[in-house]
Formats: sequence, C-alpha cells, structure tokens
Amino acid sequence: MIKLKEGVYWVGAIDWNLRNFHGYLTHRGSTYNAYLIVDEKIALVDTVKDKSFPEMMERIREIVDPSEIDYVISNHTEPDHSGCITKLLTIAENAELVASNFGVKNLRGYFGEGLKVTSITDKPSINLGKKTLQFTPIPMVHWPDSMVTYIPEDKILLPNDAFGQHIASSGRFDDEVDPGVLMQEASTYYANIIMHLSTSVGRALKALGGLEIDLIGPSHGVIWRSMIGEIMDKYRGWVAGETIPRAVIVYDTMWESTHMIARALSDGVAEGGVEVKLHRLGASHNSDVIADILEAKAVLVGSPTINNGVFPTVASFLAYLKGLKPRFKIGAFFGSYGWGGGARKEVEAGLEAAGIELIEGDLEYKFRPGAEELLKAREFGRTLTGKILRG
Ligand code: FEO
Repeated sequence: MIKLKEGVYWVGAIDWNLRNFHGYLTHRGSTYNAYLIVDEKIALVDTVKDKSFPEMMERIREIVDPSEIDYVISNHTEPDHSGCITKLLTIAENAELVASNFGVKNLRGYFGEGLKVTSITDKPSINLGKKTLQFTPIPMVHWPDSMVTYIPEDKILLPNDAFGQHIASSGRFDDEVDPGVLMQEASTYYANIIMHLSTSVGRALKALGGLEIDLIGPSHGVIWRSMIGEIMDKYRGWVAGETIPRAVIVYDTMWESTHMIARALSDGVAEGGVEVKLHRLGASHNSDVIADILEAKAVLVGSPTINNGVFPTVASFLAYLKGLKPRFKIGAFFGSYGWGGGARKEVEAGLEAAGIELIEGDLEYKFRPGAEELLKAREFGRTLTGKILRG
C-alpha cells in the first residue's frame, strides 16, 4: 500500500503485462487503482479487475482487516473497477455499497437484481468521522454511471477514469515517472477512451471547477500531485479540440503504390515546416494512430482498391476513427487502383462520417504513380501546410 495522506491509502493493483484494453494497445501495462480511507468508519473507493482481487486484498490487509470496511464506493461499474465487488462483499459482509443512480442499475445488471446498493441520491455524502466523502456524477466520463468521490478535508479528488493513463510503474505519483512518457500516455488514454465524450468531459470539468485539489487519484496509472495544473490545462485543450501544426498520414498498401504516395505527401508536408506522422496500418496499431490524431489538424487516409472497395485494415481504422469522433480536423483520401476503383468513395465517406472536413485532392493513381504524379502529391502536401498553419 502507499499512503497518500494521513488515513488515505492506495490499495490497487499493477498489471504490468496488460497489452490489450478492449482493443487499445497498452504498451506500458496499466493499474487498477482502489483507495482506502480509514477514519472512525472505513471506506474503499473502487476495486480492481477480478483477476487482481488477491493483490488488492493483500494491500488492504496491510492496513485494516477487510471485514471492517463500512462502505464500498463504486465510482464506475466497468469490470476493471467493479469486477470483484461481490467477492469483496462476501468478506466485508457489513459494508454498504454506494453508487450513482445509473451505477445501481449497472451493478445489478452485472451482479443480479438482488444486489443491495445505495444510490447517491439518498446519500450524496458520507461522514466517516473527521473525513467526508462527497459524490458528484460525471455522466459519460466514461459511462452514464460515472461519478467522482471528493474528500474535502484532504483536497483529494478520486475521479475514476478521468485523468487516467495506462502505465504500470513502481512509482505511484506523477513525479516518479518520466514526464514525457506520462503526458504521452495521458493523451493516448484521452484519445482512445474519452475523446468522443469531450462534451461530457467539459461538463465534468465545469462541475468540478470550484474544488480545491491537492491530489487527483484516477483509476488508472499514477496519482497527480506535482502536475495537476499541467494535466488540467491539457484536458481543457483536448475538450476544446485545440490542434497543433501536425498532419497524420495513415494508410495501407498492397503493391507499394499507396506507400509511394504516402511518402511523397509526407515529404511535402515536412518541406512546408509542419510535423508529419506516417503510419502504415499493420505496422501501427489503430490506438497509436488515434493518439497522434488527437492534436493533429490534418488526417490523410490512403488505401489501394481491393475487390472494388477499401483495404480491410483501412476499413477497420475508419470504423475506429468514426467512433472516437475527432473534432476540427481536415482530411483527404489518397491511393491507387488497377481498373475499377472504389476505395476513394468509401474512405471519403468514412472521413465525413467521422466528422472530418474533406479538402479537395486528386490523389488517386492508376497502378503505380509516375514521377509527375508523385510531384503532384508532394505539392499537395506543401499546399496543405498552408491550411494547417492557418489553423
Ligand atoms: Fe477504467 Fe471505464 O473503466
């Protein structure tokens, strides 16, 4: 266990080997954070994934006898936080389970209609003795049930999925890990988990705006204590859809023609002084591409035509992109075909469905692009930088 403040402890679990979090490639593993508050009454805020139950219990036992827990707070029902709740309640037999209204429904949906759960409508705060737990719903950050727990006496915010990062580390605090890695993982997490919920995140930031905060203990990754201002600023920027001068070129290729166009485009963008990130699907995972798209202004998507349509890896990427709803981006199609074509129509429809504004381009070439066509693609890249730099 790790002590956060007098009577407040981290008792979660570290999942060093996690590499796939519902389709999101988690290069650095993750943690499931649970927090124990010991006062005249004892409360546990969130639990861990079912497989990590023994690890959480070991940490709790370092502090108290788990059967003495009085309250179990479920900030969010997704199984990475609630998966072992009923197991815990067989040990903490007298504990009262507390969740948001939606949380009550969801917990019963997972664990059976007979589950005893108190709604925060009936209990908006709990007095533990010297400390108080205050609950605020933050619907759709990440599910309709999501809420935060705040301890005003310690100025500790426990916002569950908000401000998370998928990092497994020996250090539990933001200043104990590499700051570049931390911000990279926080942005990758935002892009893949909550970018499409930015309006809800904005509402949550507003609702929590007046709180004094010394520590933010999210449900994944490290606890924020030294970089609270920085992560808050980042969240405000992501919610607002702010972009930086960056173009992401994402494509797949069958016989290298689409790859040649991608290279020409990237050379043009780089010549125009704008950062460019090039991803060939298959080599890059969808979740890493989305992470680069979060702050990018332009997204160029390339595909050869196969069977009169889009390449399957590109189709998968477009489906992922559509779900995550990036905002305020411009984009275009590029690619190659042999006789009939078909990829262009599908990619452009996919970009529009994802809310990306299409810009005019003539970047679809038959069989293999010639020198002239590659020059045209390069020129397109250079021209694009003007649009990107204008914002
Ligand atoms: Fe970390 Fe939405 O669960």
